[in-house]
Amino acid sequence: MIYTRIAGTGSYLPEKVVTNADLEKTMDTSDEWIRERTGINKRHIAAEGETCSDMGIAAATKAIGMAGIEVTDIDLIIVGTTTPDKVFPSTACIVQRKLGIHGCPAFDVQAACSGFVYALDLANRMIQTAGATTALIIGSEALSRVTNWQDRTTAVLFGDGAGAVILQASKEPGILATHIHSDGQYADLLEVPAGISSGYDAVRAEEAYIHMNGNAVFRRAVATLGSIARETLDGHGFNKSDIDWLVPHQANLRIIKAAAKKLDLSMDNVVVTVDEHANTSAASIPLALDTAVRDGRIQRGQLLLFEAFGAGFTWGSTLVRY
Ligand code: UT7
Repeated sequence: MIYTRIAGTGSYLPEKVVTNADLEKTMDTSDEWIRERTGINKRHIAAEGETCSDMGIAAATKAIGMAGIEVTDIDLIIVGTTTPDKVFPSTACIVQRKLGIHGCPAFDVQAACSGFVYALDLANRMIQTAGATTALIIGSEALSRVTNWQDRTTAVLFGDGAGAVILQASKEPGILATHIHSDGQYADLLEVPAGISSGYDAVRAEEAYIHMNGNAVFRRAVATLGSIARETLDGHGFNKSDIDWLVPHQANLRIIKAAAKKLDLSMDNVVVTVDEHANTSAASIPLALDTAVRDGRIQRGQLLLFEAFGAGFTWGSTLVRY
């Protein structure tokens, strides 16, 4: 049996920080509202010209260092992102070029905030079937590029950053289970309407920004994260009490607390970074994972549950023996 283990983690946050107090000066909002409704205190914003691949490379370099591998060992690159550098080629191919790797498959996964768990699912399947031995998986987002800074209902929620993991084939577990789902009937509830084939009208600039029915997304996220946790644990013979760390997508502290409650988990066993990073979509889980690995909370041998939910709707989970 070939398993997939996480050999190294890395993350990157842009230098520029925008606090709630900064936003109070430019829109009709308050630090109190943002903290109470979302748990967010600040977010990092990419510098002018700083791209999804730039941030992904910075995170990947740290993950490669922790794993102790050579760049040339990497034989699969997957980037989860909704804010790629270009329409094409994929950000994964741009990362591949910047790393100086030639020939291995490199592609993006567009599953919005679930992009990282989707990428883990795919990489795990490829490693288990001997299609790859050492995979670089990145979640990277420059959401500030699709944020309408005049719209207080969305502008306060999002941030930029990247997280990465090196996955390696192993005789020891590893990734124990992955589940990914989507339901396109909810596609209109959270979207950036501008597109390519649907005909982007540059005059209607608002189409290039995030549009969200926050209440509807909130309700669905809470319900769905409960069911994905049950599916993941029950289907693989684990109990709630077996989980050492929940590493959830970081959209809203209230959603994270609801997810923890459904698992009977104390918040002491939940990695929370939404206060510092805001919602970084596909980057949020690997950013949170790397934070808790590097500060020593997450230890080898512990059982981790990743849970994600996002536009599409898409959702998914990963159960990992770290
Ligand atoms: O990562 C992908 C998945 N995304 C999510 O999971 C996000 C899910 N949704 C949410 O997290 C929450 O719905 C929000 C944080 C977006 C909004 O929180 P809410 O408790 O659902 O607030 P609301 O939309 O019901 O708005 C309540 C009030 C409204 O005013 P009225 O109509 O009651 O007078 C809003 O206009 O708060 C107002 N409001 C604000 N006030 C100050 C909305 N945004 C702001 C703001 N500052 N930034």
